[in-house]
Amino acid sequence: MVEFAEFDRLWRTWPWLPITMAMAIVTTIAMVTHRKRTKISLNFPPGPPKWPVVGCLPHLPFGPPPEVMFAKLAEKYGELMLLWMGTRPYVVVSSARMAMAFLKTHDPEFANRPVSVVRDYVSFKGNSIISMSASDPLYQRLRRVFIVELLSPKKIAAARELRKEQKMLKMLQAIRGELDASDRVDFRKAVSTLGLNLSVCMIFGRHCGGKVVPKEIETLMFTFKKAVKLIQRINISDLLPSIRWLDIQGIEAELRDVEIQLRKCIMVLIEQKRLEMSSWSSSEIESGANERDIMSKLLSLEGEDRLNDDQQMGVVFALLIAGSDSISKGIGKAIEELLKHPLFHKRALDELDEVVGRKRLVEELDIVRLPLIQNIIKETLRLHPPAQLLIPHGNLEPCEVAGFHIPARSSVLINLYALSRDPLFWDSPLEFFPDRFIGSNLTVLGNDFHYIPFGYGKRGCPGLNLGMTTLQYGLALCLQCIDWRLSASSTVSETSVGSKDLPDLFVDGELRVDPRLLDSL
Ligand code: HEM
Repeated sequence: MVEFAEFDRLWRTWPWLPITMAMAIVTTIAMVTHRKRTKISLNFPPGPPKWPVVGCLPHLPFGPPPEVMFAKLAEKYGELMLLWMGTRPYVVVSSARMAMAFLKTHDPEFANRPVSVVRDYVSFKGNSIISMSASDPLYQRLRRVFIVELLSPKKIAAARELRKEQKMLKMLQAIRGELDASDRVDFRKAVSTLGLNLSVCMIFGRHCGGKVVPKEIETLMFTFKKAVKLIQRINISDLLPSIRWLDIQGIEAELRDVEIQLRKCIMVLIEQKRLEMSSWSSSEIESGANERDIMSKLLSLEGEDRLNDDQQMGVVFALLIAGSDSISKGIGKAIEELLKHPLFHKRALDELDEVVGRKRLVEELDIVRLPLIQNIIKETLRLHPPAQLLIPHGNLEPCEVAGFHIPARSSVLINLYALSRDPLFWDSPLEFFPDRFIGSNLTVLGNDFHYIPFGYGKRGCPGLNLGMTTLQYGLALCLQCIDWRLSASSTVSETSVGSKDLPDLFVDGELRVDPRLLDSL
């Protein structure tokens, strides 16, 4: 999801970059001439100066995470910026007003995804909904399958048993199983494994936490992590498409291998599920066996909804990539914030004790009676949206937005980091204060453009309901079962970056983990 996560790496590799750039010189001459011709009459959004080949890269204040860097640049250039990265145009949106212009007023024009090398590989021959253009006829079909067949509130409710079958509890026990002699656990590793385990469990209906993980699931998770690392790397071939054939960083070659491996392990799991389904009795089917997990539903699709092997693999990978990281980040950041704000932590535990008690586990249906847990998740999504820049949108044709000319094939980044800290809309925007949502009718559905953690419009997240349910239920269970505390060697630290003093949180080191309910269940 994070196309820019490695700006730092790019910057560090800067010394050899100009040598490579020289190879693109011929293309550049054409580009510069073109620019001179178009600049005369077109009103481009403001942005740092553009140089041949490298664009504005030398002017970018690298160091902080990309969303923070862009928020800082927006203080100088404004709510809409045009940045040329290499030879590619990037448009950065930093206000609710502009977000509405791109995601609502001009939604049809910008509901595409920009081209990228990664899109050619882990999309299983162009079959991934995430990277597909909205104009692709398959897109509408897949989007319907996601929203109506796989992720509708009704289908999610039908799969509640799967989540309730103590699978989540087992995953928490697995975290506990990894504790060292001093009862400490690597927090980041624990929550990222939790998110991936949960997604695999929801997709395939198989428990995969704990010490004994089925081989095929272990291979999938290993390969998936490799793919994510590659997707997050910034690829010079994307910035300078004319030298893609050189594959300077070797990313394309690695992606090719990873795609082959992913195909193999996803296919094994699909075959296993087909075999399992073929042994179901009619009474099992009548009692809703094929509604229990996403894969069973996917393989039961009929008529024009039926998908071929590549399309099924594309769906599985999209669900893994879009679901697991956002769930780990959401639950992880909520726990970090509570460690830093013990008063809200205590209030959340009191709420759980009062509504659920300590004799049974919290269930999804309890969530409606846990308003503080709901508000903690909302506030976490405000300050730490898992996709800080959404997933880049793209336009096929040039377009006029708010009086500015947006070049064709731009990558449009909506900077949620800037939107959710805009003092025009938020009181004390840097403060973690879940109570701000009490009595407010602000929801995650995106009715107000200063709060759109799931995006909005044609490309808005189809997993919103499942995402919210899992985050709230997951956090409630994590808090009810485990007493999360900082170990002596750990700190929750804030980094202050940028001139507006915009902090982020980090738990450094390991956490002490004491059972609250875990051992008695
Ligand atoms: C847990 C919290 C989650 C958050 C905050 C979140 C947020 C987002 C965001 C911001 C986007 C991009 C929207 C855009 O490009 O404008 C997105 C896309 C997507 N999400 Fe989620 N998501 C979450 C969970 C999930 C889950 C659980 C699933 C499915 C199991 C899912 C499936 C998808 C898919 C398939 C897309 C791509 C849609 C498209 O390109 O048409 N998400 N999500």
